[in-house]
Order: sequence, then structure tokens, then C-alpha cells
Amino acid sequence: MHEDNYIALVKEAMNKAYVPYSNYPVGALVVTDNGNTYSGCNVENASYPEGHCAETAAIASMVMGGEKNIRMIYVMSKNDQGGCPCGGCRQRIREFSDIDTQVILCSPGGVQQRLLLADLLPNSFGPEHLL
Ligand code: THU
Repeated sequence: MHEDNYIALVKEAMNKAYVPYSNYPVGALVVTDNGNTYSGCNVENASYPEGHCAETAAIASMVMGGEKNIRMIYVMSKNDQGGCPCGGCRQRIREFSDIDTQVILCSPGGVQQRLLLADLLPNSFGPEHLL
């Protein structure tokens, strides 16, 4: 799939966000090693801590799809610098990542920054530490 399609899908996800409290919609799109895509948006709650992030939703969808390897994850917000994953989501991405996993920060205008998960979460803790 061409990257323009990924951008369209992550924008569609962002536009579904339920954000009455922050008014900060976020979309996330996971692309797996198999080339499949899974999207998610942030969903807030009147009990603020019960809301969840877009990345969390996309990762849950990937797991429900029977997959566990994130090749790339697109994160879109309306911020000019693109959607920036919070610390908790960096760790959630880490669980299903490898050394090459890319995190692609997007604004509605397109890709703003391409990073490796290792740039966002250096010296990270992961499943192999428990084995
Ligand atoms: N948010 C995400 O969806 N992903 C992130 O990585 C950063 C923050 C959401 C949570 C909340 O609904 C809103 O953005 C403002 O923090």
C-alpha cells in the first residue's frame, strides 16, 4: 500500500476521536510485518483517567487481529509537529516492536517526522528482560 493510503487511514481514525474534554484528536495506524493495518483513536471519559490513547486502541485492534509485530505506526494529531506518542504509549508500542520499528509523526498535512521507537524510548525495558 502506498504511504498516501496510510495517511488517509490515520486521518480517518483521528476524525473519529471522542475528545470532548481535551479537544485534541489523535489517530494511530499500525502497519504489521504482514502488511496489515489496524487503526485507533483516542476515546475520553468524564472520569478523565479512564480515557485511552489512539495508539492503545490501534494496538488492541492488532492483537485482536492475531498479530504481534509492529513494522510502523503512524500517529496523527492537529499539532504542526505531528502526533507525539506519550510515555505510556511508547512502552505499549515497545512490547510489539523490534529494532527497525518506525514511529511516523503526522499532522493533517502529512508526515512531519520519522523516528525509530528506539529514538523515542532508548535503553528500554521489554519482554526479553523477563525471560
Ligand atoms: N493522546 C493520545 O491519544 N496519544 C498520545 O500518545 C498522546 C495523548 C490523547 C489522550 C487524550 O485524549 C488527549 O490526547 C490529550 O492528552
